[in-house]
Amino acid sequence: MPDSPILVTGGAGFIGSTLVDALLARGCAVRVLDNLSTGKRANLPEHPRLELRVGDVADSELAREAVRGCRAVVHLAAVASVQASVEDPLGTHRSNLIGTLNLCEAMRNEGVKRVVFASSAAVYGNNGEGRAVGENTPAAPLTPYAVDKLASEHYLDFYRRQHGLEPAVFRFFNIYGPRQDPSSPYSGVISIFAERARSGLPITVFGDGEQTRDFVFVADLVAVLVQALEAPTLEAGPVNLGLGQSVSLNQLLSAVGELLGPLPPVTYLAARAGDIRHSRADNRRLLQRFQLAAPMPMKEGLARLMALS
Ligand code: NAD
Ligand code: UD1
Repeated sequence: MPDSPILVTGGAGFIGSTLVDALLARGCAVRVLDNLSTGKRANLPEHPRLELRVGDVADSELAREAVRGCRAVVHLAAVASVQASVEDPLGTHRSNLIGTLNLCEAMRNEGVKRVVFASSAAVYGNNGEGRAVGENTPAAPLTPYAVDKLASEHYLDFYRRQHGLEPAVFRFFNIYGPRQDPSSPYSGVISIFAERARSGLPITVFGDGEQTRDFVFVADLVAVLVQALEAPTLEAGPVNLGLGQSVSLNQLLSAVGELLGPLPPVTYLAARAGDIRHSRADNRRLLQRFQLAAPMPMKEGLARLMALS
């Protein structure tokens, strides 16, 4: 079925629309299912091989119609903000878990096997204790977001064993790049800091700024997702999608300052509930199973994000 579309749920969002561009460039037909809650129509091009269906992945009829006739699915639709899940666990649960389960049922009923899933490093909680976390590090979800991602992984594994689904489960670390919406306080920290620094608006750091993240440029992530769609076979089990690097928020602020000049005022407030202190991937499984050619250096990625290069 080479001409049948690939369904990208959440395809109007930051990561989804970047993936859609890559798939279109490879000659694929693409169908997007997105409720445009944080995604935007403007993220998607007008293209004869692209179809947008506006709706909720947790709506079973819609999900089944969207899956019908597709050759594979990339499931990215979710409330991506950890903080939003802390404030509204039920609302985020509908998208983040019911949405996944609904999609699994739709795939079972429509006979579609391959699904690439965006899980999260959040499933490890603070179990890394400052060291790199491997896939065998026990999960310790601290927030409704992390609970739903972990439960989604388990559902996907059930459908693999019971119904022959072919899930490629990636635990994304912190992804950044162009189109990550800077306008919401619930967005990723790099997009918020970069936009506020550029506009001269005050910056808030939750905690002492010494918390660390393993930041991945979105194009590097998308290259791996495409490989997972095209791989003839997939091994079971989740795969960390991180670089194995550690950058603190204070280091991030310095890097932004080096690119843009003096920063606006920075205020340090209390850390957010459920916030993870240190997050860094042991990415050996990723490197065994997929190609990660010359990942984007952070400074260059920041410059691209700010359209400085
Ligand atoms: P995003 O908010 O830009 O994208 C999410 C997309 O899903 C949006 O277009 C939104 O409108 C859509 N959506 C949300 N709920 C929906 C629903 N119920 N039905 C249909 N569409 C819905 O965020 P993103 O950063 O591109 O995240 C994409 C995926 O990657 C999410 O599953 C997120 O949890 C996961 N993830 C992201 C990161 C990161 O650092 N950005 C890290 C780990 C995992
Ligand atoms: C991010 C992703 C989440 C993903 C996880 C994987 C987003 C919005 N969140 O969560 O989907 O599953 O990585 O590791 O993409 N911060 C500030 N000031 C701000 C904003 C944030 O200090 O204005 C702090 C936060 O408190 C946190 C750090 O920056 O300590 C990172 O926050 P955020 O970008 O929201 O990412 P995660 O919570 O790690």
